[in-house]
Amino acid sequence: MKQILLLNGPNLNLLGAREPDIYGTFTLEDIERTVNEVAQKKGYNVTSVQSNHEGNLIDEIQGATGKYEGIIFNPAAYTHTSVALLDAILAIEVPVIEVHISNIHQRDSFRRQSLIASACVGQIVGLGLYGYKLATEALIEEIIPKRQK
Ligand code: DQA
Repeated sequence: MKQILLLNGPNLNLLGAREPDIYGTFTLEDIERTVNEVAQKKGYNVTSVQSNHEGNLIDEIQGATGKYEGIIFNPAAYTHTSVALLDAILAIEVPVIEVHISNIHQRDSFRRQSLIASACVGQIVGLGLYGYKLATEALIEEIIPKRQK
């Protein structure tokens, strides 16, 4: 079966309990279940990785070539700080969709900038759990097939 990587960055393991007014009450498990359900119906397997460590996220991205058809990535706070994550995404051919649960453009000014956005095929913000569902559909129905043409 074809493979997709669901990659979540720091503090997203705390979803459900973490600032529920901003991030809602769904958990990382709920995200994994949602992405899995959508992907499996369309013939894809999902590997889910959450890490609080920038280097682990970079290792996952570097390792994606030949392993995954696409990546759904919420880099959390590293979105706004990490040139290293940008460089890792630029170094691979595998398409990456950036997802944020909250609308980063509505929040602190330092959250409005994503250092990785220019290297991603698209960005979904502010749609909560549904954003992950949309990212999965977009990757499988649009982005991956287009690349294979
Ligand atoms: C986030 C937004 C980031 O600014 C924040 O640091 C997060 C989560 C989101 O999904 O809305 O941890 O990526």
